Amino acid sequence: MTNFSTRVIGISGGSGSGKTTFARGLRETFESLQGRAGMSGVLAQDSYYIDQSHIFRGDGENVNFDHPDSLDFPLLAMHIGELRQGRSIQVPIYDFPTHQRKSERSAFEPKPLIIVDGTLILSQPKIQELLDWSIFIETSEATRYERRFKRDLVERGRTPEGIRKQFERQVKPMHDLFVEPSKACATEVISGETNFSDQVLRWAKKISGALEC
Ligand SMILES: Nc1ncnc2c1ncn2[C@@H]1O[C@H](COP(=O)(O)OP(=O)(O)OP(=O)(O)O)[C@@H](O)[C@H]1O
Ligand SMILES: [Mg+2]
Repeated sequence: MTNFSTRVIGISGGSGSGKTTFARGLRETFESLQGRAGMSGVLAQDSYYIDQSHIFRGDGENVNFDHPDSLDFPLLAMHIGELRQGRSIQVPIYDFPTHQRKSERSAFEPKPLIIVDGTLILSQPKIQELLDWSIFIETSEATRYERRFKRDLVERGRTPEGIRKQFERQVKPMHDLFVEPSKACATEVISGETNFSDQVLRWAKKISGALEC
């Protein structure tokens, strides 16, 4: 058990919308307002992919990583619940180049602020009810595609053709079906096409204020 209470904010939006950038900024600004490091942590939906490496044939083919069924949302919901109750969790580790869940896990301690980063978190009522606030980052499809293309090529070892096929067949249709409609559930919608610093500061102040209550 801890001597602090935990607040949880969800950061959602399409792939490449800027969620991870916003989450990192929020963490840094919140901790600088608090005057102390280690006051917040980011829990990434990406860590909760189900291991489908045994059936995977190629990018944009038989495994749809953008469908909610590819994620272990019951485990993510359980973990958020544990953190809210002041208990530590063991976060799974997912390896993108091989699509495998590793055997080891990463210990994650409870903190006053937990930031949950993920494309589909607001499409899941069981996750939504565990969030104190949620932000949806709205970014045009062209910008999201361009950013994702660069990242997948450099960081995730994908080919240009594989990235394009996956975007057309899976990322875009799942975005339109699950991600975009979940925007209606967010506490606030923020543009992902402009600099985040003003919005990050406003939210860091708002959360800091709420911790006083
Ligand atoms: N507001 C912004 N203005 C300009 N560039 C941005 C902005 N937000 C993010 N970027 C850039 O876009 C790229 C993708 O951002 P980021 O990784 O935060 O997206 P994401 O929503 O987390 O994507 P994914 O869901 O695929 O993980 C990064 O290179 C980042 O620097
Ligand atoms: Mg991200």
